[in-house]
This record gives sequence, structure tokens and C-alpha cells, in this order.
Amino acid sequence: MKILVIGSGGREHALVWKLAESLQVEKIYATPGNIGISKLATCIVPENNSPVALAELATRLDVDLTVVGPEAPLVAGIVDVFNRRHLPIVGPTRAAAQLEGSKIFAKDFMSRHHLPTAAFTICETPEAAYDIISSKIYGYPVVLKADGLASGKGVVVAQDESQANQAIQEMMVEKKLGESGTRLVIEEYLEGREASLLVFSDGKQVIPMPPAQDYKNIYDGNLGPNTGGMGSFSMPGLLDKNLKERLVKDLAEVTILGMAEEGTPFRGVLFMGLMLTENGTKILEYNVRFGDPETQVILSRLDSDLLDIFLGIANGDLSQVKPSWSDMSTVCVIMAAAGYPGQIEASQIITGLEEAESLENVKVFHASTKLDDSGQVVTAGGRVLGVVARRFSLEAARQQAYKAIEQIDFIGKHYRRDIALLRH
Ligand code: AMP
Ligand code: GLY
Repeated sequence: MKILVIGSGGREHALVWKLAESLQVEKIYATPGNIGISKLATCIVPENNSPVALAELATRLDVDLTVVGPEAPLVAGIVDVFNRRHLPIVGPTRAAAQLEGSKIFAKDFMSRHHLPTAAFTICETPEAAYDIISSKIYGYPVVLKADGLASGKGVVVAQDESQANQAIQEMMVEKKLGESGTRLVIEEYLEGREASLLVFSDGKQVIPMPPAQDYKNIYDGNLGPNTGGMGSFSMPGLLDKNLKERLVKDLAEVTILGMAEEGTPFRGVLFMGLMLTENGTKILEYNVRFGDPETQVILSRLDSDLLDIFLGIANGDLSQVKPSWSDMSTVCVIMAAAGYPGQIEASQIITGLEEAESLENVKVFHASTKLDDSGQVVTAGGRVLGVVARRFSLEAARQQAYKAIEQIDFIGKHYRRDIALLRH
């Protein structure tokens, strides 16, 4: 089979790597792909990123299946465009992708289906938002979320009234996030341990993946500003088995059933960001695609064929698919460029990639790299590489990942030292 993967990050490198292992796969294309992906797939930089242009590309390449990595094309309706042309694709329709595309939709949906989430108020105007803040109903910290997609910049945890008012000013009045910040959700701050639970769904049934934990802050000890993710791990028992089964039944299955009942069945990968609080587990957010860098550690534990799962989703029937997961633990440490998550300096030469990958059970996924004029691999963005190790214990996987990292060098490199060590 011929497969097209849409996207360019570490998540997509992991998807391509796993698909390339399938005996059913004869050819992989990626658009736009990246340097790491180009070793396994033919990368095509599209002139035009619109859903229609990508459907035309899939037709021209005569692919049997398209897999979408990032959320933006899903929220823009790529699956609807492919469906109309009878092109098989893995992902939710535009209506179902609203679970991520609109925080207000997601919150209202959770209320309609009695799914546990933080108490919230929807604010349509800045005045309404200022009123909620001055009423202090949620105390401090308080969380403000832009309704629309914001590439990870749409959530502000405000410690006091002035920070909250500043967030309202920036998002709703100055429109720093564009239309995404026109409406806001203001919600109570939840305390607890976070976990990411991802499931595959064909619109009716749910197949859970092993849970993972990611690290969003830039500095050790979960300090400093949020990033796209500085590392992740997955291991057996990350969530207690009974708890996991309950979460799959009470949260994932209720969500999938609810979407089907509302006439917008969800087919694809549903990602639930969870907070395990003293008062039970609550859903912080939905994503409608694989997580980055969760995918790198989750797929590193998949022992069976990823393509079988994707075909089941695209055909709307996962009943015959029984994935098998490894009992090994996996750790991913992200190496970032100087300045990240702020302004970064690109084009630094990267050395030691082969040495790192020659270590046992180590895989280096590219996120933002490119080739310079002399053919050297150089940095090209904030999150540069994701170094993954897989071992029989979490501690051994952690040590192996950091051993691999020591092989890799570029000017300004930085990474967290406490991935898989800090466990809350
Ligand atoms: P989200 O994009 O909704 O996952 O938010 C990004 C991050 O903000 C989450 O992973 C949490 O760390 C934090 N966050 C979001 N909502 C809340 C909340 N209600 N209480 C505490 N932290 C939150
Ligand atoms: N790691 C969080 C995300 O992919 O949204």
C-alpha cells in the first residue's frame, strides 16, 4: 500500500517510522515531512496547504490511505474534502474536530454529557470576562482559554487579577491570537497529576493506547513558560489498571458515544488531557490527533502493525483489530534550540546523530532540522530533536535516553534533565 502522511514534526517522524515497519506498506510519502522522515519516505513540499490541494496530491500520488498529524488541517475540514472524493483518510471530520477546534464547543459538549471537567464560564465579550474576574468566583490561580486554535499559546494560568485582566486585554481586545481569542473560557484551576490518555476510535468503539505523561514547562521542576512539550514517558502501570479501565469507559467511551448521538461521529485519534484531582479525574482538554511528544513514546511501545489500526479507523470498523503493546518503558527527551520557547537562533550544525542512534534501543526523531548548503544537518526551529529510548524499566530507559543525548551536540542546545524522574 501507498501511504501519505501530513505534517513535519517529531510526531510525524514517529508515525512514518512505525508505518515503515509494516509489511503491507510499499511506499510512504510525507508532506512536507522533514530530514529524518526523508530517510523513510519521499517528502513533498506542497505549493498549497489547503485541504483541496492535499486531496489533489493524494489523488495524483495514487495513495491508498492518508494520515493527518496536526490539528489545523482537521479543524479546517480536510477529512470532509477527502470523504467527498472517496479518498481513505484517518482523522475526524470538521464537525467532530471541534472537540479541539473550539474550547467552548468542548466545554458545552462535556456539560451535555455529564463529563467531569473544571467549572467554567463562557465569555463572549471582554466586559463579561472582566466581570467574571472581578467577581472572583474561581479564586486564584484562574485559567483563561482562547476558544480557537492557538498553537499551544491559548491557555493562561493567571495568578492574580492583574494577570487575568492582562490576558483578557491581549486575547480579546488586542486580538494577539487573532480570531481564536475573540471568545474565552474562564475556568477554575485544578490541582493534581496530569496524564494523557489517547484512544483510537472508528466512531463507535474505542481502543485505548498506553497512557503517557508529558512535560510542558521549559525548565526542570516544571518551571518557566509552557512549550509544545519538552519530553514524555510511557510505562506499564503509569495509571493503575482499574483506574485506566474506568477512564476509558467513563470518559473516552462516553465521549465517542456522545459524538455519535449528536450526529458527528468521531473517527481517528482522540487525546484526552486529564487531571487526576482529589475529587476524581477531570478532562482538561481534548485534542483530535496524536500528541507530540506523546506519540514518540506511545508508538515506541506498539508491537503490532500500526497500518491495521489505521485501516480499521478509515473503514469505520476496529472490531477485528487487536493491537499488542510492549511491557517495556519508553522515555523521550526533547532537545531544543537556544532561545526556545521564545525567539530562537536556527542553522546551528548538529553532530553525533549517528552515534546516538547506534546505542541499543535508541531512536532519534527529528522535529525541526534541515540540511544546509553543504549537506550538514542543522537546527531549523525550537524543538529540534526527540531522543527516545526503550528499556525494561523506566529508570533504564531514562538513563539510555540521556546517554544518547550526550552524543548529540549543537550550539545553544538545551533540554530538561528531569524527564521521567519528576513524576507528578
Ligand atoms: P490545555 O491546552 O487545555 O491542555 O492547557 C494546557 C495546560 O494548561 C494543561 O496541560 C495544564 O497544565 C494547564 N491547564 C489547563 N487547564 C487547566 C485547569 N483548569 N487547571 C489547571 N491547569 C490547567
Ligand atoms: N503534548 C501535548 C499535545 O500534543 O498537545
